[in-house]
Amino acid sequence: MYSSRIVGAGHYVPPKVVTNKDLEKIMDTSDEWIRERSGIEERRFVDIAEDTTAGMGVKAAKIALERAGLTPDDIDFIVFATLSPDYFFPGPGVTVQHELGCKRNIGALDVRNQCSGFIYALSTADQFIKTGMYKTILVIGSETHSNGLDLSTRGRAVSVLFGDGAGAVVLQRSEEQGKGILSTHLHSQGEFADVLCVRAPGNVSKDANGNLIKTKYYPNMEEDAFNTTPQMDGQLVFKNAIIRFTEVINEALEANNLSTNDLDMFVPHQANLRITQFVQKKMQLPDEKVYSNIQRYGNTTAATIPIILSELWEQGRIKENDLFVLAAFGSGFTWASALIRW
Ligand code: ACO
Repeated sequence: MYSSRIVGAGHYVPPKVVTNKDLEKIMDTSDEWIRERSGIEERRFVDIAEDTTAGMGVKAAKIALERAGLTPDDIDFIVFATLSPDYFFPGPGVTVQHELGCKRNIGALDVRNQCSGFIYALSTADQFIKTGMYKTILVIGSETHSNGLDLSTRGRAVSVLFGDGAGAVVLQRSEEQGKGILSTHLHSQGEFADVLCVRAPGNVSKDANGNLIKTKYYPNMEEDAFNTTPQMDGQLVFKNAIIRFTEVINEALEANNLSTNDLDMFVPHQANLRITQFVQKKMQLPDEKVYSNIQRYGNTTAATIPIILSELWEQGRIKENDLFVLAAFGSGFTWASALIRW
C-alpha cells in the first residue's frame, strides 16, 4: 500500500477585517464578552462582489500548488469541504475544477461535515491515494459564513464566533512507509444534529396551495420559516467538544503506539480558545506545541485546519519527521483526528 503526504499548503482570507468593536456597532455585544468567552479579536468577511466559497478555495489551492511545485494539470481529484457552498447544489468542488483550470475532467467530491469537514476530506483523499486510485489530490476547506449569519442582537450568540476564509493542501502518493498520514479517525453522533444546525432550506416544504408543510426536523417552522441562519446550544456543544477532542487525539496516538510526548504540534479546529486551552491542559502540552489563530479569524469551520497548516508552512515550522495531530469537533455532532508524520 502507498502512503500519502502533504506536499503543499496554502490559504486565503478576504482582506476585510471585522473587529469586535465593529460588531458592537450593529448588535448588542461587547469586545470584552467576545474575547473572554471565545478568544476572538477579529475575523474576516468577504466582499460578496469579490469572493465566494469556491473562489477563495481556488485562491488557496493556487498557493498550495505553487508550494508543491505542481500545476492544476497534475491534480487527479478534488475533495472540497464546506458548510457554506455558493449553490445549495451543486457543491463547490466542480466550480474549482473549472475555475482552477483543470483541463482534464477530473472528479470532484463535496464533503458536508462542518467543523470536522477538512479532516473527513483529508481522510477520504488519503484512502484514494493509499489504495492507488489517484496520485495527487487537492483537498480544500473554505467557508463564507458572513452571508449566512444573523448579525442582529437575536443572532449574537452564534454570529460573533464565525469568519470567512479558505485553506488547501495537496496530497500526493509516496512509496516511503511510516511517513505522511499515519491514520485518521472519524466519528459522529446524529442524535445531536439539531443542537447546531441550519434547518432551512432542507426542511422547508410547501403544499400545492403554497402553504408551509410542517416537517419532522422543523417543529417551529411556522414562527421561523426559511431561517437560514445557524442555531446552536453553545454550552452543550462546548461540553461535548472538550470530551471528544481529548478522546479522538488519544485514539490516534494509541492506534500508532505513540504518546503525547511524541507530538511536535497539536493543530486544533478553532471553535473557541477556551476549548483549545482545556484540551491543551488535559494533554499537558506546552504552548509552543499548540497553534491558535482564532484571535485573528474566528471560527472558519472547514477552513480552520488547512489555514493553520498553511501558516505553519509559511513560518517554516514544519520540519521533516515532525509529528502533528489534527483534531476537530462540530455540528452533527461529528469529530475526527489525523496523525501526520512529515
Ligand atoms: N454578546 C454579549 N452577550 C451575549 C452574546 C454576545 N455575542 N451572546 C450571548 N450573550 C449572552 C447570553 O444571552 C447570556 O445572557 P444571560 O445570562 O442574560 O441569559 C450570556 O451572554 C451567557 O450566554 P452563554 O451562551 O451561556 O455563554 P457561554 O459562556 O456558554 O459562551 C459560547 C457561549 C461562546 C457560544 C460557548 O458556549 C461556545 O463556544 N460553545 C461552543 C461553540 C462550538 O464549539 N461550536 C462548534 C463549532 S461550530 C460548527 O461546527 C459549525
